[in-house]
Amino acid sequence: MKIAAVIVAAGRGERAGGGVPKQYRDLAGKRVLARCVHRLHQCGVFMRIIVVVNPLDRDHIDAVEGELGFRLDTIPGGATRTASVRAGLEAASETGAEAVFIHDAARPFVSPALIDRLVDALERHQAVIPALPVSDALLRVGDGGAMGEPVSRDGLQAAQTPQAFHLASLLDAYAQLGGTALPDDAAVVRAAGGEVALVAGEAENFKLTTPEDFIRAERMLMSEAITVTGQGFDVHRLETAEVMWLCGIEIRAGLGLVGHSDADAGLHALTDAILGAAGAGDIGEHFPPSDPQWKGARSDAFLLHAIKRLHEAGGELVHADITLIAERPKIGPHRDAMRTRVASLLGLPEKRVNIAATTTEKLGFTGRGEGLAAQAIITARLTP
Ligand code: CTP
Ligand code: MG
Repeated sequence: MKIAAVIVAAGRGERAGGGVPKQYRDLAGKRVLARCVHRLHQCGVFMRIIVVVNPLDRDHIDAVEGELGFRLDTIPGGATRTASVRAGLEAASETGAEAVFIHDAARPFVSPALIDRLVDALERHQAVIPALPVSDALLRVGDGGAMGEPVSRDGLQAAQTPQAFHLASLLDAYAQLGGTALPDDAAVVRAAGGEVALVAGEAENFKLTTPEDFIRAERMLMSEAITVTGQGFDVHRLETAEVMWLCGIEIRAGLGLVGHSDADAGLHALTDAILGAAGAGDIGEHFPPSDPQWKGARSDAFLLHAIKRLHEAGGELVHADITLIAERPKIGPHRDAMRTRVASLLGLPEKRVNIAATTTEKLGFTGRGEGLAAQAIITARLTP
């Protein structure tokens, strides 16, 4: 079955506060919407992921795209969730999809197992949603904010998203709805007289609604985070030249590094370290020296690619430490500029980047001034 996903992300998140619509808030190093898209993207089920946004949020959307390393397929939403879903459905119906998952951007913890349960049930049902039994005793609020009637929780469950539908039947239900706004899409199907099957929801798949939900989410992620390191090493031959590129800056000291690209050994070691932490092989594998397109290439591009791979692996850089090993050029005068440049490329504060230099006491190829070596160690946090 061809399935499209629609993520509704056009709300203002007023109950959550925080100054920024909640789907754009940072959660343990990654914005909520980026986490949400990442989860849906990773499971490989969806032919398209359409994100319904408020066009006023363009700067936030750019930041999410930066974290994900790819562009989002966005369309403008409306004043209510119902209106935003309608816009999403219109876009989904142009994709040739037979089924659609509608998901709240405010639920970043949807699991692959839950998506599988929904896909599986969609084989037998027109509409399927995850639901969880409520555990607290329920009540109606009475006069003056005091407790009114108790409400039996027998047979009551709480609905979650993603909610999954055969596209034609959901379009039909929305066509019958007219101008009313309902809380979710299953309610729209029920209003049109359709049946909605239930699969087990997940407590972890809670919706970020209040400031307390953000605290809970942050704690949950941090408790599952692990710290990893990656290391890289690179050598390039030294020659007489006007310009040398090292750690992303230009040094004019009558020396250059020989290589296929700009031969920036510092950035190459750093790139390998980041690829290492991402478990993504090495620089030669991603940018083969035999490939003419990398001739003379600036190493910034290699580094940014490695960062993207780390993000894809759920990683976030924490710290980078580079050691340059050479008799010449003198690194000291350039150290601050290197640190500033590397920090900016990595998106880290300068205090989390270190540039060290050493000689090898005139020993070996570095000691004889034949080449320059660089090694890098990076620390990254992997969150689920
Ligand atoms: N949503 C939307 N368009 C709207 C309103 C809501 O796309 N006009 C989306 C939200 O971005 C969210 C989901 O619908 O992902 C569920 O809505 P809710 O949790 O109520 O989010 P907000 O409306 O943003 O929050 P609040 O009600 O606290 O303002
Ligand atoms: Mg709302």
